[in-house]
Amino acid sequence: MDMDKLVSLCKRRGFIFPSSEIYGGINGFWDYGPLGVELKRNIKEAWWKDNISGHDAFEVASDAPSAFDMVGLDCAIIMNPKVWEASGHVGGFSDPMVDCKTDGCKGRFRSDHLATSACPLKPSKAPGEFEKCELTEARAFNLMFETNIGAVVEDASKAYLRPETAQGIFVNFKNVCDTGRVKLPFGIGQVGKSFRNEITPRNFIFRSREFEQMEIEFFCRPEEASAWYAFWRKRRFQWYIDHGLRGDRLVLRDHDPEELAFYSTATADIEYAFPFGVSELEGIAHRGDYDLNQHIKFSGKDLSYFDEERKQRFIPHVIEPSAGADRATLAFLCEAYVEDEVGGETRTVMKLHPRLAPIKAAIFPLVKKDGMPERALAVYRDLKRHFNVFYDEKGAIGRRYRRQDEAGTPFCVTIDGQTATDGTLTIRDRDSCRQWRSPAARVVETLRDLIEGRVAAGGEAPQSDHASTNAD
Ligand code: GAP
Repeated sequence: MDMDKLVSLCKRRGFIFPSSEIYGGINGFWDYGPLGVELKRNIKEAWWKDNISGHDAFEVASDAPSAFDMVGLDCAIIMNPKVWEASGHVGGFSDPMVDCKTDGCKGRFRSDHLATSACPLKPSKAPGEFEKCELTEARAFNLMFETNIGAVVEDASKAYLRPETAQGIFVNFKNVCDTGRVKLPFGIGQVGKSFRNEITPRNFIFRSREFEQMEIEFFCRPEEASAWYAFWRKRRFQWYIDHGLRGDRLVLRDHDPEELAFYSTATADIEYAFPFGVSELEGIAHRGDYDLNQHIKFSGKDLSYFDEERKQRFIPHVIEPSAGADRATLAFLCEAYVEDEVGGETRTVMKLHPRLAPIKAAIFPLVKKDGMPERALAVYRDLKRHFNVFYDEKGAIGRRYRRQDEAGTPFCVTIDGQTATDGTLTIRDRDSCRQWRSPAARVVETLRDLIEGRVAAGGEAPQSDHASTNAD
């Protein structure tokens, strides 16, 4: 698929806009529009439900060494700056950067991305390719955004916008243990904004300066850590497949030993074949006891854990599945974008998984007369109490279907002349364009079954002749 077409659809249909666009935008920042905000919320909610609130703490999942608990947190974005000294971000969270001193360029580039970067001089080339390019030596550029707390700008008031949500979890480890709700093994999840002053933000929302992360720190006994690492590595990969990413576009790549952080014994990236290349969606890292030990060292507090069962005190080991909500959104959008042919015409359709789709169903009166709009509005109000649905009575029915195809709406519900006589309405399936009649009185249950995949499109009743009057 063509990235430019996706970016243009996202803008046109209200998924994603360049931030502060009326002022010329701002590089590396994006705003989610009415459809985009629903899509991203659905992704974050699916992640939260599947990993945190909906987790069964008593079931022993296949491949899991035991049952385990999961709880959530929502920490402040600005934390005590010592957190970032302990985590290593103040000293080492940097990318290598080069500047170009040439007049008219003055560009700033990541030195490890030079071959794929574009120089602002025209015609655009890779930095260093023009004769007049004057690139500096590479130097480390810290990616943390700085800010000041309080009215006086001095060193003591310096603080950072968090570059990851993970550290908020580590510094609250003891608080969570002390609430008495959990015992090892257990995980703490957090979803929230992170900020990185990326040198070259690029590829739409793939690499931006403000983004959202969905992170888990999973605490376990040291001797069980390898088994838990294997469990999370597999479980997180499957989550993307369950929500519509094709297995042959996903890669589970284990890091080579030389790529591993010194404290990590294993790390894997879940990568997706984006149109611009195969790139990281999520990392699963075996972090050992590094983070808790760092915070013990810098805070002077005891963050050890007493295992009641084994009567032992130790520092738990950590497995960290760390995902990006915006990267997941981009992968689901790329996967969903399809151009196919319906009735001899090309249609653009976003085949989003029903659980993630911004609008679950669109409700149409076939025509604006004979009581159809009133009946359709009654169905809309019924459904609206349960799902995000949309009402539209304007224009030809085929055009209304097309608009919903582009929005990724999995089902359209049409109220027509027959509805008044036999109490049925027509449901249309976005992907197959199949239509079938279904009882209006059961429309909430029917849609729930369809969205949750319990019933296949058209499974309820054979397609009636009448359905063709509402045809594409
Ligand atoms: N706590 C570990 C951590 O933050 P990371 O690999 O730096 O690890 C985790 O980030 C995830 O956050 C990435 O896999 C990606 O999905 C997302 N992410 C990181 N930087 C990003 C950026 N500049 N824009 C969008 N998403 C980003």
